[in-house]
Amino acid sequence: MELKEVVKEKYGQAALRVHAGGSSCCGAAGAMEGCDPITSNLYDAGQTGVLPEEAVLASLGCGNPTALAELKAGETVLDLGSGGGIDVLLSARRVGPTGKAYGLDMTDEMLALARANQHKAGAENVEFLKGEIEHIPLPDNSVDVVISNCVINLSGDKDRVLREALRVLRPGGRFAVSDVVTRGDVPAEVRQNMLLWVGCVAGALQEEDYRDKLAKAGFAGIEIEPTRVYSIEDARTFLSGQGIDVDAMAPAVEGKFMSAFIRATKPAGCCA
Ligand SMILES: C[S@@+](CC[C@H](N)C(=O)[O-])C[C@H]1O[C@@H](n2cnc3c(N)ncnc32)[C@H](O)[C@@H]1O
Repeated sequence: MELKEVVKEKYGQAALRVHAGGSSCCGAAGAMEGCDPITSNLYDAGQTGVLPEEAVLASLGCGNPTALAELKAGETVLDLGSGGGIDVLLSARRVGPTGKAYGLDMTDEMLALARANQHKAGAENVEFLKGEIEHIPLPDNSVDVVISNCVINLSGDKDRVLREALRVLRPGGRFAVSDVVTRGDVPAEVRQNMLLWVGCVAGALQEEDYRDKLAKAGFAGIEIEPTRVYSIEDARTFLSGQGIDVDAMAPAVEGKFMSAFIRATKPAGCCA
């Protein structure tokens, strides 16, 4: 099956589980107690307390971009891969009634969940769009801030996603994204096993590659700041269940898999 179809199916199932009153955790995480060290405890009570419970339950991110992004009243925010809508609803509160928060997702079940959550939250400055992050259905220079939470790592064409993010941002606009990245050389087999643990389907970039791709797309002021570094112990239960010799693999893992906050800006005057 094409990568995109696999991703759609996994996240469609995750959305339906939330709809049925269950947890959104999928893949490896779903097999474990609670969510896991990646998705759990990302938002504080002040943030979750103002949202519909289903929006919080549907959270499948690996960071909290709205806590780290600077968002001002009146701004337009776009969330790439908005899932159940948690970051869109939080952004909408931050930009206020004169601003707007768009969520973009390709999975119908996630869009249905997000729109139901919008309705429950009574958020009027929110719009969920159906589409792919590789082909953003918004005009050039129309957004102040692009956020995203653990989605760009899922794309098979990250260069195109970053070019699209740059295109829709206004000159001076900000890219403020949480994502999984790897650091340094990791043997291919270890990488594959760890990334299976990390998400439903994951294809994280090395931090240097992320930086290079952002620069190649035209971004400036690029910063990558680790927010959670995963240890082999975090993944032990899952990896053991796959029949992997976890202790042998440990030295190749420590300090190399992390969630990070990635920021960059579209240069003023960009682009012809
Ligand atoms: C890991 S979940 C994250 C959801 C949300 N950002 C959050 O923090 O809860 C990934 C979401 O991105 C969507 N997605 C993945 N790849 C996509 C693509 N290429 N275009 C649009 N949406 C995509 C999936 O449908 C899913 O809702």
